[in-house]
Amino acid sequence: MSAPVDLSVALGPLALANPILTASGTFGYGLEFAHLTDLGRLGGIVTKGLSVAPIRGNPPPRVCETRGGMLNSIGLQNIGIERFLAEVLPGLERFPPRVIVNLFGVSVEEYVRLAARVEPVAGVAAVELNVSCPNVQRGGLEFGQDPEILARLVRAVRAVTGKPLIVKLSPNVTRPVEIGEAAKAGGADILSAINTLLGMAIDPVSRRPRLATVRGGLSGPAIKPVALRVVFDVARQVGLPVIGIGGIETVDDVLEFLLAGASAVQIGSALFRDPTTAERLVTALADRLAADGVGTVRELIGAVRLPS
Ligand SMILES: Cc1cc2nc3c(=O)[nH]c(=O)nc-3n(C[C@H](O)[C@H](O)[C@H](O)COP(=O)(O)O)c2cc1C
Repeated sequence: MSAPVDLSVALGPLALANPILTASGTFGYGLEFAHLTDLGRLGGIVTKGLSVAPIRGNPPPRVCETRGGMLNSIGLQNIGIERFLAEVLPGLERFPPRVIVNLFGVSVEEYVRLAARVEPVAGVAAVELNVSCPNVQRGGLEFGQDPEILARLVRAVRAVTGKPLIVKLSPNVTRPVEIGEAAKAGGADILSAINTLLGMAIDPVSRRPRLATVRGGLSGPAIKPVALRVVFDVARQVGLPVIGIGGIETVDDVLEFLLAGASAVQIGSALFRDPTTAERLVTALADRLAADGVGTVRELIGAVRLPS
């Protein structure tokens, strides 16, 4: 019998049993899916974005299908950090997947408050900052769109947390590498990429936008090539471990992101169709590596063969 495949990866200070995670906002708080899929088999779960106070989100319709993907304008609906820590996290600790909390705020102070709140909580393995949020102190410009503002935000969060710190990059910028470098300068350990692409859809019969907010975030297979390009550029040029996100559905998709330079991946929209997708990909990845005679998943990271 051949030796078992080693799926473990280390992203700086964050060690994972395997590189398959769920993406923020597409798997609730994890616990809702415990009866459908084995949470303990996942490399980790990333929670729905959490804020200081609960948020009710945007009015409907707030999701619609598009060719090769979907648009959403959920509006960061969530139960708030305190309810998550009191009511959800203890339940998750039974399984136990590695839990990464996705945090967002409208000011530097809110991000800092959230990161400081989870700092002493043993069940939180890492913090992921969603920086695609409007900064109310800067006229609504997103934190992740300006390198200086982002570096300042990350530095402030870094000062209050010793947990592995992930900064999630937006694709809605001209130079993601520059933003990744700013996150690194601020003290980030890991980058994740990408968040949704800004888009819109119109119903030609009613002539109305399909989302109540008009614009929304595009996700799913349609964004995969964009995500792969960002991961490739950022992994090679910034020099931090990267988690790839965007349109991943199959084991080939996972392999592509690993080869482009990702050390792990997050599965998002695919979970809406089948909440077992992430768990199935863990098995499929192990089977594929065994069939190809690849002993460890780490051999594949950044191993794309470029034209000479
Ligand atoms: C319905 C929905 C809600 C999302 N909510 C969040 C969120 O709260 N925080 C965040 O950082 N990303 C959020 N995202 C972005 C995803 O985590 C992911 O970056 C994006 O969907 C691309 O991956 P995918 O193509 O596999 O879905 C959300 C995506 C969707 C579709």
